[in-house]
Amino acid sequence: MKFEDFWYIVAESKHLKSSTVLSRIVLGEWLAIFRGEDGKPVALRDRCMHRNSRLSGGKVSQGRLQCPYHGWVYDGNGRIVAVPTEGDNFSHLPSRCAKSYDTLEQDGYIYVRLASPTEDFPPFAMPYYQQAGWETVRVINRFHNNVTNCAENFIDIPHTAFVHPGVFRQSRQQQLEMKVERCDGSVLVEYRNENTNLGWYSHFLNPQGQEIRHTDSFHMPNITSVEYDFGSDRRFFITSQSIPETEDSTLVYTDVTFNYGIWNKLASPFVRWTAQHIISQDVDILATQNQVIEKYGTQFANTPADTIHIFVESIRDRISQGEDPRKLPNLVRQVKFWV
Ligand code: FES
Ligand SMILES: [Fe+2]
Repeated sequence: MKFEDFWYIVAESKHLKSSTVLSRIVLGEWLAIFRGEDGKPVALRDRCMHRNSRLSGGKVSQGRLQCPYHGWVYDGNGRIVAVPTEGDNFSHLPSRCAKSYDTLEQDGYIYVRLASPTEDFPPFAMPYYQQAGWETVRVINRFHNNVTNCAENFIDIPHTAFVHPGVFRQSRQQQLEMKVERCDGSVLVEYRNENTNLGWYSHFLNPQGQEIRHTDSFHMPNITSVEYDFGSDRRFFITSQSIPETEDSTLVYTDVTFNYGIWNKLASPFVRWTAQHIISQDVDILATQNQVIEKYGTQFANTPADTIHIFVESIRDRISQGEDPRKLPNLVRQVKFWV
């Protein structure tokens, strides 16, 4: 197993129009993304076969992409279908074909896969996407750090009181308990004892101050999901897909999907503002972490509250070694910590 075996988001479906070509990087590979004649997304290596211009700088017309340098034209399979200097003498040569990758569309996202593994790992199903009673707010942010550190941040409770004071959580020295389980390439976390400590939104989300059902999870290789359930009409998910661009650049697509009953439409702009506000604070702290890692290397001093991170790293390390993390032994840890 390797990271190239998985599907990665390269765009929201609505951002890829029939005349658009997008430039993307996934796992260091440069991609030009456009829609072919049949409307299906096409992903070609962003390199013209002729003299190495970038295809993503070109133009799309009727599902064909024209290189900006000397005008060679590529179809949705990466085949060269016109060479201006050859005029009517042009004939297709099989050797003249750009490298192309598998694509698919799901839940309003376009995905690309760089390898063709024997086992298919379908993209993570975004919870309740476009289902009745649910609203989704989508935000996209670039982090200057790697996928592992981003994913870990998204399911790290202890940082919230310090990086997001007020808006998310106050430091109150409240004891929480979590059950952390590693199984089948995932890390599943259940929290107990959580009640009102959710900053500005406590009154709306949990007016009675009841115990909250809160679960977090990580799914190989790059998905995190946070779920809060305060009872009927007060439930939300935060699902993040961290896309590796390069070793220290990660593009994160975040869906906040919520069911606030009659407040759904009204809540949307507040949810968007809050999500972006919180994520911008994480972008800053993760950039700082990356600077220090670049200077001094990765050497962490973990506590029991970091169990989630240790499990996430064990899964991602396995994939880097070409192994299948689903073969790691199942582990369960009960952890007490204070926030
Ligand atoms: S480099 Fe693309 S057409 Fe010449
Ligand atoms: Fe955060």
